[in-house]
Amino acid sequence: MSQETKSTGIDILYGGGLTFPPDPGFAAQANAKADLYDKAARDLVGYWEGEAKKLSWFKPWDQALDWQVPDAKWFAGGKLNVSYNCLDRHVEAGKGDRVAYHWEGEPGDTRTITYQELLDEVCRCANALRELGVKRGDRVAIYMPMIPELPIAMLACTRIGAAHTVVFGGFSAESLRSRIQDAEAKVLVTGDGGNRRGAPAALKPACDEAMEDTPSIEKVLVVQRTGQETSMKAGRDVWWHDIVERQEPAFAPEEMDSEDLLYILYTSGTTAKPKGIIHTTGGYLTGVSSTHRYVFDYKDGDVYWCAADVGWVTGHSYIVYGPLCNCATSVMYEGTPDTPGKDRWWDMVERYKVNILYCAPTAIRTFMKWGDEYPDGHDLSSIRLLGTVGEPINPEAWLWYRRHIGGDRVPVVDTWWQTETGAIMISPLPGVSTLKPGSASRPLPGVSAKVVDDEGKEVPRGGGGYLVIDQPWPSMLRGIYGDHDRYVDTYWSRYPGMYFVGDGCRIDEDGDFWLLGRVDDVMNVSGHRISTIEIESALVEHQSVAEAAVVGMADPTTGQAIVAYVILREGQPPSEGHGQDLREHVAKVIGPIAKPKTIHFTPELPKTRSGKIMRRLLRDVAEKRALGDTTTLQDPTVVEDLRSGSGKDE
Ligand code: WTA
Repeated sequence: MSQETKSTGIDILYGGGLTFPPDPGFAAQANAKADLYDKAARDLVGYWEGEAKKLSWFKPWDQALDWQVPDAKWFAGGKLNVSYNCLDRHVEAGKGDRVAYHWEGEPGDTRTITYQELLDEVCRCANALRELGVKRGDRVAIYMPMIPELPIAMLACTRIGAAHTVVFGGFSAESLRSRIQDAEAKVLVTGDGGNRRGAPAALKPACDEAMEDTPSIEKVLVVQRTGQETSMKAGRDVWWHDIVERQEPAFAPEEMDSEDLLYILYTSGTTAKPKGIIHTTGGYLTGVSSTHRYVFDYKDGDVYWCAADVGWVTGHSYIVYGPLCNCATSVMYEGTPDTPGKDRWWDMVERYKVNILYCAPTAIRTFMKWGDEYPDGHDLSSIRLLGTVGEPINPEAWLWYRRHIGGDRVPVVDTWWQTETGAIMISPLPGVSTLKPGSASRPLPGVSAKVVDDEGKEVPRGGGGYLVIDQPWPSMLRGIYGDHDRYVDTYWSRYPGMYFVGDGCRIDEDGDFWLLGRVDDVMNVSGHRISTIEIESALVEHQSVAEAAVVGMADPTTGQAIVAYVILREGQPPSEGHGQDLREHVAKVIGPIAKPKTIHFTPELPKTRSGKIMRRLLRDVAEKRALGDTTTLQDPTVVEDLRSGSGKDE
C-alpha cells in the first residue's frame, strides 16, 4: 500500500472496537431485510431488474444489461421519462397534495410545494425553456442558489429530454465558463443571487463575465430571488417571472431511451481540467430511488432532509431524483447553518419534525466545535435515522452525531459513493447491519466491490489497498463528456475489467470496509473534491508566480485543508498581502472553496530527478511528520529548508 493511504491514519479510523447491532424494533419495520444480499448475490442483473420495475416505463426494456467493458447499457430499449416518474405518477396515484418540499429561505421565508404544484411548475418551466429554443438532446447549464426553481429547472430539462449541467453556485465565472464551453450549453438558468450569511450574494455578474466567451449560449433565464440590482441584456436575458408564469401547466413528457443522456456533472480529477461525468436515464433513476428507499428506510409520511447543495452529486441524487421518485417529503434550505444562530438546523429539525437527516462529516465536526448546547436546546426526538457522506467520518464525530442529534437511539449510516457512481455503493442497511463508527460497512446488495493490492489481487481480510468495483451497476457513469479516452484511462486502465475508484481502503476481519481517502492528487475539503493541479494551475496563472505545489493537510474541521508552496518570480516580495492576493486570485479562478488556507513562499520545491514535484514530502512537511522516503529527491536540502521554515510563510 502506498504512503498516501497509510498516512491517513488507520489507528484513528478504527473506532475503538465499538459496535451497534440493529435495534430489533427498527429491524422489524425496515424496508431492507437481510435477504436482499442473498437475492442480489444469486442474480445481480435480476436484482436490479426487480428494482427497475418499481419505476414507470412507457415501454419495457429489451435487454437488462449489455456489458462491453468499460461500456454498460442498462435496460436498453426501455422508454421512460424522469419527471414523469418523479411527479405525474404520484399525482395520478392521488398523492398530488403530498408535500414534495418544505423549502426555507435563509431570511426565514418559506414555501410549501406539493407534488401537484411541483408538476405544474415543471410543466410551465418546460414550456418556457421550449419557447427559449431548448429541444430534446440540447444541454442546459444551471447556476443557481438553493431555491425551488433549481429542482424545477432540472426536472423541466428531463421533461423535454434536454440534459442539464448544474454548476455549484459557489464556483467562479471562469469555472462556469469552462463548463458551459465543454458542455456547449444552449441556455443558462440562473438567479439574481441567493442569501448567504445574512446577506444577498450575487450570481448574475459571474454569469455575465462567463458569457463573454460562451458562444453556445443563446438565452439566459433569470429567477428573481434577492431583488438586488441586476443587469439584463436585451434579447438574451429573460426574467423567470416574465416567461414562466404565463405558460400552461401542461407539457407532455418526452419518451426517453433508458440510455439517453440525463445530465453532465463536472468533478475534479487529477488534471487541471474537470471531468464532465455522464449519467443516463433508466439505470441512474433505478439506482438513486432504490438506495434512497433501502439506505434511508424512507416510508410514506417521513420528513427527510438531505442538507447538501443541489450543485453537488449528493443534491442531484438525494435532494432531487431519489426522494422525488419515491414520493418523499423533503426539507430544502437556502442558507448557512449559523444564520441567524448556530442552532438553525436544529430549530428546523424541530419545526419540520425531520425524521431522516443526511449531511457531511465536516458539518458534524463544525457543530461539535460550536458546542452541544445548540442541538441540546431543541427537541430532536423526531429523528429516526442519520446519514453521512462525502469523506471518512472519524468515530468521535460519528458518536457525537448519534448522541446529540440521534438521542443515542438511532442508526447512523455512513454512505460511501462518488459523482461517478451516481448512487450510494457502500453503506450499512440500517435494519440489518451492525454499525461500527468510522466504517461504511459493506457493499450494498447489487454492488460488487473489492480491496486489491498493487497487482490487482484481492487482499485478505485484515489487509488494505485500493478499492475497486468489479461488476457494472445501473447508476454508473457512462463516460466523460467528449473524452472517452480519458474515461478509459482514468477508471479502467489500472486493473483490467475493474473500475478504479481512487480511494484507499482497509477491510477488517468481518469483511467491513474502512475508507481511507484519496490515493491520487485529489483533495477532499469539507467533502468537496478539488484537485491539487487545478489550484496549482490557477496559482501559476498569476503574474507573480513562477511555480506552485499544492497539498491537502489533515484538518480537524474540514477533513483536509489546502496548503500551497509557491515560488515567486524574481523581484516579487513574499509578503502577507501577497499571500492574500494569491488567495483571492484562486477564489476568482475556481471559487472560494478552493482558496488555500496557508501559503508558504519558498525558493525551491522538492522534486524527483525527473523533475516531478514530490507532494508526498510536502504533505509530510505540512503535517509536521517525519519525512518518508527521500532517496529519489534531486536536492535533499530543499525539504530540510522547508522544514526548518527558511521559506517565508504567509
Ligand atoms: C469521498 C460525493 C469516505 C471519497 C458523494 C470519494 C467518502 C469522494 C465517503 C467522492 C464516505 C465520499 N467515506 N470517503 N462515506 N463518501 N467519500 O464525487 O474519497 O463529491 O472518492 O461524491 O469522496 O466525492 P464526490
